[in-house]
Amino acid sequence: MAEKSSRLVSAVGADDEQQFEAGLRPRRLADFTGQTRLKENLQIAIDAARKRGEAMDHVLLYGPPGLGKTTLGQIIAQELDVPFSQTSGPVLQKKLDLSGILSGIMHRQVFFIDEIHRLLPDVEEMLYSALEDFHLDILIGTGPGARTHSIPLQKFTAIGATTRQGLVSAPLRGRFGLVLRLNHYDVPELKKIVERSSKLLATPIDADGAEEIARRARGTPRIANRLLRRVRDYAQVRAKGVIDHKVAVTALDLLEVDRFGLDEIDQKIMRTVLEKFGGGPVGVNTIAASIGEEPETIEEVYEPYLIQLGFLHRSPRGRMATERAYDYFQVPRRFGGVGSQPELF
Ligand SMILES: Nc1ncnc2c1ncn2[C@@H]1O[C@H](COP(=O)(O)OP(=O)(O)OP(=O)(O)O)[C@@H](O)[C@H]1O
Ligand SMILES: [Mg+2]
Repeated sequence: MAEKSSRLVSAVGADDEQQFEAGLRPRRLADFTGQTRLKENLQIAIDAARKRGEAMDHVLLYGPPGLGKTTLGQIIAQELDVPFSQTSGPVLQKKLDLSGILSGIMHRQVFFIDEIHRLLPDVEEMLYSALEDFHLDILIGTGPGARTHSIPLQKFTAIGATTRQGLVSAPLRGRFGLVLRLNHYDVPELKKIVERSSKLLATPIDADGAEEIARRARGTPRIANRLLRRVRDYAQVRAKGVIDHKVAVTALDLLEVDRFGLDEIDQKIMRTVLEKFGGGPVGVNTIAASIGEEPETIEEVYEPYLIQLGFLHRSPRGRMATERAYDYFQVPRRFGGVGSQPELF
């Protein structure tokens, strides 16, 4: 069991990209850029738990990929000065997998459950009592002689992470004392992250170079760090190792990174609204069907960034492209878009 549990909670595979990411992860809350309100809420919960010497409330972190959920999970353990272990929804195939892990959990430790929306129903149900009053109900035996045993657990802190909060069931969500949303980062925040990462990578960069990378990072620190890595390669091979504005622009253009960091699916969504549906209004289900994505993924992962950029507008009748989107995608106006949002970038 011990060996199996350790496999189930083992760290993610150590390939190159993951190692690179891990190396750039901030370790303390103070080094975590942006998400001001969320950080304040966390800081209060952390300080209170420390003061009382108790386990901190369970936390559910949700938001699009690459915005810092796993990083925050590790930071919370670090700030609480407790061990950290992690697993993920799809890894826990059986109730036994979960009970094995939970019975070995230490007092106050952080237990991080990634992709918590993907738990199997019976595993999820077992988690309810573990989260609520720290015990496990185990059925021993079969047939009429079967008995439920209640096994007490150490008081711990669960941190659930998901990109799809719409898929987290109400009973599960209700067991988290803190439910916190991560939002896309603005350009000045991403610029700070790029500058911090450059320092860690010992790569000289000027303010304009960092800003150009930030602008094209799709509001996402993970993408900012990845772009920085590519631009650093270019700078080292073609430009004496220093990243300035010209180097950043040339390298990013060469990589065909969109000026606003839009990825293929962002572009598909915008072109569908603009070209297939005359700028909208069009329902999210229709957009989803036409590009072969799930409506929830569009709503939770893609739309927030397109709205933040001022390309898409949510109206009661459906999604509408803005003037700004018509201009950027150079689509001739048929029915006209709604007014642009204020300049964000
Ligand atoms: N606020 C931040 N400040 C500095 N770096 C950050 C911040 N948020 C994220 N990062 C960096 O971005 C990378 C991705 O973050 P992380 O793995 O925590 O994202 P995630 O939300 O867990 O993504 P996923 O949904 O894919 O699991 C990490 O390498 C981390 O260094
Ligand atoms: Mg993660």
